[in-house]
Amino acid sequence: MRFSVNWRVLALSLLLAGGSAFAADGSPKAAPPAPAHAGSLRPGHAAVASANFHATEAGLEVLAKGGNAFDAAVAVASTLSIVEPESSGTGGGFMAVLHLAKDGRDVFIDARETAPAAVNPRDYLNPDGSPNRDAALRGPLSAGIPGQPAGLALLSGRYGRLPLAQSLAPAIRIARDGFQPDERLRGAIAGTQKDLERWPASAAKYLPGGKPPAKGAVWRDPDQARTLELLAAHGHDGFYRGETAQKLVDAVRAAGGNWTLADLTGYQAKERTPISVDYRGYKIVTAPPPSSGGVAIAEILNILSGYDLTKMDAATRAHYIIEAMRRAFRDHNDYLGDPDFVQMPLDMLLSPYYAAGLRQGILPDKATPSSMLPRAEAPEPGMHTTHFSIIDADGNMAAVTSTVNYTMGSGFVAAGTGVLLNDEMDDFALVPNKPNVYGLLGSAANAPKGGKRMLSSMSPSIVIGPGRTAVIGSPGGSTIITQVLEGILHFIDGESAQQIAAHKRFHHQYLPDVVKVEDGTFDAATSEALTKMGYTLKPRESWGFMNVVTWDREANKLDAASDPRRPSGLGKVQ
Ligand code: DON
Repeated sequence: MRFSVNWRVLALSLLLAGGSAFAADGSPKAAPPAPAHAGSLRPGHAAVASANFHATEAGLEVLAKGGNAFDAAVAVASTLSIVEPESSGTGGGFMAVLHLAKDGRDVFIDARETAPAAVNPRDYLNPDGSPNRDAALRGPLSAGIPGQPAGLALLSGRYGRLPLAQSLAPAIRIARDGFQPDERLRGAIAGTQKDLERWPASAAKYLPGGKPPAKGAVWRDPDQARTLELLAAHGHDGFYRGETAQKLVDAVRAAGGNWTLADLTGYQAKERTPISVDYRGYKIVTAPPPSSGGVAIAEILNILSGYDLTKMDAATRAHYIIEAMRRAFRDHNDYLGDPDFVQMPLDMLLSPYYAAGLRQGILPDKATPSSMLPRAEAPEPGMHTTHFSIIDADGNMAAVTSTVNYTMGSGFVAAGTGVLLNDEMDDFALVPNKPNVYGLLGSAANAPKGGKRMLSSMSPSIVIGPGRTAVIGSPGGSTIITQVLEGILHFIDGESAQQIAAHKRFHHQYLPDVVKVEDGTFDAATSEALTKMGYTLKPRESWGFMNVVTWDREANKLDAASDPRRPSGLGKVQ
């Protein structure tokens, strides 16, 4: 796609700004300079927070053996693939923001899935032309070429201290010896049983004896152990060539998919420059495209930098945050896609001038209706992605969000590999102007194409303030962006890791034009004030699961918190 200014959006900002794209005084307040990172200071201890205690302990085990945060990230991600397969895994992809203590560099790792070369948009339509949601979300057609194994090999090889085999060892041991699936995994299997029964290898793996594993049963994953052993022995090629690649392609094609060996051999995890934004003396380092998350978070923070949120009542504060969310999500639908395939007006979207224009269109006491796109009602998504955060004793940091997309991904296990494939193809705008499972509408920028990465909302972030640092992220489909944004604001407000992870949340994504609210977020007076301003508030039950680590650099104290909405999570300092 060629770059073109979205005149509709610009015209609206100008109109609402009363003819000017700039703030009333003509000069938007420049962001304060980012604080320098705490040079030679090191925490001396390490902290890991993830959604499952086996995974947190795997990370701590690898740190204790001399690994750094990046080796620990490999251990956590690979262990989650065994113990929390409903959320992320070897058959999926991840995005990570890293901070390298030795030279202060921030790096973004893009291990996002890609479309196979033979992708055909017609495969996602029914004969009558309506969207075929089953093809988009279940079975081999819904699966992109996995990025996680390549990403783990890159993380370990380029940034780790230990051999890949040592970082993968805890996952392989748990897969071989077995573990007791927690309630959430048992529930995810029961909830997707009908789909899992469609493919023999999925049923054999997840429905032993025709049923989900019973409470307390020990469950093993020998096929995935073997797949990880091949990765451990041969690195990247141990997955993308040879035995595993052949088994993946055979299984996908036998079940009606269109992968080829060339799709696998051609896959590369990529290193990109993260997005960095300054907000009130804090530097936020976050995910660039093919995630929409960092662009949206930066746009929201740039809009909010014109207000002092600390001096407002709860309703006014929520009002400005919601209006900023609304505007960022509108741009997300229109512009964003894989940077290797589309040109995006990032300079404009990330500019404080653009934010100042948008800010001028926000009335102090009224909601702006979202009336520029056809309304799309989103189903309530479950939480099926995972985020973990790590700081090691030297101050290396890893914020990693990893996913197979929807609950249990595609539900399709490639026979003989133990690999549950993702259903990430639904994150493309498969059918123009039809919402995906998160109610997100996409444009040509996110149309599917062979080798292209589908747009993501994953927003792993590192926030560096004058005296404190946070490593933060969350699952949640489109709500990832707003949950991480709120977490960043709470951190800037001075909250602890535990308070941030527990904080009640709300979400607006332009369309549908409603504010989704977690029970307890707003008191009755605030809800009433927001309703009077014109907002439609709707309850939403599934939020989280945020895993945060913080480093108070002044007191040199680490803290780690796992979202209390998720009992099997663990945040721990060692
Ligand atoms: O990459 C994305 O944006 C989605 N595949 C993430 C999915 C997710 O967070 C599921 N949780 N509700």
